[in-house]
Amino acid sequence: MSRSVPEITGKAQLAGVAGWPVSHSRSPSLHNYWLARHDIDGVYVPLAVRPGNFRVAMDGLRMSGFRGVNITIPYKEEAFRYADRLDPMAERCGSVNTLVFHPDGTSEGFSTDGAGLLASLAQEADYVPQGRALVLGAGGAARSVAAALLERGVDVTVSNRTFSKAEELANILGDGMSTLPWDAWEERLGAFSLLVNTTSLGMHGGPDEEWCADLGHANEKLIVSDIVYVPQETPLLREAQRRRLQAVGGLGMLLHQARAGFAMWFGVEPEVDEATFAHVMSGLS
Ligand code: ATR
Repeated sequence: MSRSVPEITGKAQLAGVAGWPVSHSRSPSLHNYWLARHDIDGVYVPLAVRPGNFRVAMDGLRMSGFRGVNITIPYKEEAFRYADRLDPMAERCGSVNTLVFHPDGTSEGFSTDGAGLLASLAQEADYVPQGRALVLGAGGAARSVAAALLERGVDVTVSNRTFSKAEELANILGDGMSTLPWDAWEERLGAFSLLVNTTSLGMHGGPDEEWCADLGHANEKLIVSDIVYVPQETPLLREAQRRRLQAVGGLGMLLHQARAGFAMWFGVEPEVDEATFAHVMSGLS
């Protein structure tokens, strides 16, 4: 079957995702789906930017009329340094996943991952930010998630294999943050209403695809969230379901973090509905 040709004119609005590698990204599939659905004359392309070329690539896109770009591994910190202006959440996160190129030639950086997670938890598990959350991991994703939770008044505890990195993160984000050693969080789980895995444990191709945890100490209201989305159901989420806890996979966060960029570049707020999930899932293994 031949693919239908989208209508793209000389006035098409352009955006994309910059990373290295970038071929794994689901963002082109998602944004082009939304563009078609809203009948927008626009294109969203993968941009494989070789290490060392980030700044020149961004300057080139900006000067070629791109509306903006999403930023993925390994450039989120470099995009933070590149942006002329930052929104407060990007400032707190020290990273940028969405760049907007304004008509006056300046660029503005946003960090939408944490808000994306909260929107996905609200949609899929009726999560209302409150109480205490336990965040596993202390990398860039953990920082975005913790910053968004703190902003909504949630106390956040970070646990990480390398404890010093958890302490560093807690110090950076300040009030409302605490830490637990990696070998101590399972037995303290009863104190939390939300658990978020931001490590690559359980991810296809990650350090340990079989990784799971003992959720025996969880209280019955615990929501278990994994930002990994390949596979869509990690061993941790399966264990949560087995214990009849609410389990939320990472795909919703991916879809929700994308909405803000799409709205700023193309002027339409897209829906994250079942059809959107189905479209992006159909391309995942
Ligand atoms: P990102 O910026 O996407 O969060 P990252 O900075 O590489 O990615 O962070 C990966 C996280 O997974 C880290 O918290 C890492 O723990 P360390 O800080 O101790 O490296 C965690 N991680 C990776 N492999 C792990 C393993 N085998 N056991 C426990 N944690 C692991």
